[in-house]
Amino acid sequence: MGPKLLAWIDERFPLTSTWEAHLSKYYAPKNFNFWYFFGSLALLVLVNQILTGIWLTMSYVPSAEAAFASVEYIMRDVEYGWLLRYMHSTGASAFFVVVYMHMFRALLYGSYQKPRELIWIFGMAIYLALMAEGFMGYLLPWGQMSYWGAQVIISLFGAIPVIGADLQQWVRGDFLISGITLNRFFALHVIALPIVILGLVVMHLVALHEVGSNNPDGVEIKKHKDENGKPLDGIGFHPYYTVKDIVGVIVFLFVFCAVIFFFPEMNGYFLEHANFEPANGLKTPEHIAPVWYFGAFYSILRAITFSIGPIDAKLLGVIFMGAAIAILFVLPWLDRSPVKSWRYKGPIFRTLIILFAIDFILLIWLGTKPATETYTLMAQLGTVFYFGFFLLMPFYSAMEKTKPVPERVTG
Ligand code: HEM
Repeated sequence: MGPKLLAWIDERFPLTSTWEAHLSKYYAPKNFNFWYFFGSLALLVLVNQILTGIWLTMSYVPSAEAAFASVEYIMRDVEYGWLLRYMHSTGASAFFVVVYMHMFRALLYGSYQKPRELIWIFGMAIYLALMAEGFMGYLLPWGQMSYWGAQVIISLFGAIPVIGADLQQWVRGDFLISGITLNRFFALHVIALPIVILGLVVMHLVALHEVGSNNPDGVEIKKHKDENGKPLDGIGFHPYYTVKDIVGVIVFLFVFCAVIFFFPEMNGYFLEHANFEPANGLKTPEHIAPVWYFGAFYSILRAITFSIGPIDAKLLGVIFMGAAIAILFVLPWLDRSPVKSWRYKGPIFRTLIILFAIDFILLIWLGTKPATETYTLMAQLGTVFYFGFFLLMPFYSAMEKTKPVPERVTG
């Protein structure tokens, strides 16, 4: 761009100053590692979902009579329709893989701790909206699992005392899941939730750029600045991290394409087998399982097989499932460790973080399995560990001796 044109624009629109504040002079710690690829990858997947979603909408028909057939039409007749659909369905799972890695990074390096509590809270709001988005999108192909999965989840509202039955009917818009439910889920999936998610992502990044990024050492780079106010351990996001992130993007796309071209159903984990059969409200599938990314919370729901006083098992399960998500929101106040990064935390916290990751994966896996006695017992143990990890955190994080944190990043 010519300097004259740029000056003309800058007088009317803050182009150069925005570019500098958020890219070339946004100083990020120089020691970002593997775990820091996932934020930009989440942005990439978000763009993929929006673009492929727009093109799918051009051929998809949101009605109970035509939805299933329109998806088959996209797969067989629309030019590259199969690619658009697989990019979107694989993108949904990729979104959760990337976001789970992104969240785990925050856990490893204490990125939710002061002053980044709001980045975390906006992130959690994104996560909630993303789950709603995934849930509603899954009804759209109008297959057996779309129908019965929605049936199970919507019936959970029925467990709420007094208002439950009315609420359930209000969500469905009908006495049973019907074309009316499909229509409203379509509206929410293609318009309402994407707007909410985009807005939240902007707030997430605005909050991030206000305080600056954390890093694998968990030290604040703003503490040591040169005479021009540039952090000594910081490098301009552009070009250093824009270029580095391209490496992550290429590796990601390689794996993403391999899945799309060779394993789009991922053995029933990304597209469930029962969903290749049209929805039939009179025929319940033998085994109703959510898609893998809801697995952990579904396991917690099913782990509650007992009632307490007047609260029956179903309601108690819903309460535990809600609490499992709610507790993540307050994580910044549960971790009372004086250090951020696990590198400098004590052995108890370090071990528990690894065990938590294993526990979460176990719960995901159990969520996709039938609730046999052994699996239910495993889910119950997993649930106890899940809550124990968070509820006991204020104690073990405060009491444990930590290692000295260096003044500057260690690389
Ligand atoms: C659409 C989903 C999301 C997008 C596009 C997104 C994007 C980003 C980007 C680009 C960054 C900066 C680069 C990086 O640190 O990797 C970031 C940082 C961060 N995100 Fe997200 N994010 C998303 C979801 C989440 C969720 C679900 C959480 C947690 C609940 C979260 C928590 C954080 C935290 C704590 C940071 C600061 C990390 C640090 O400075 O160490 N994000 N996010």
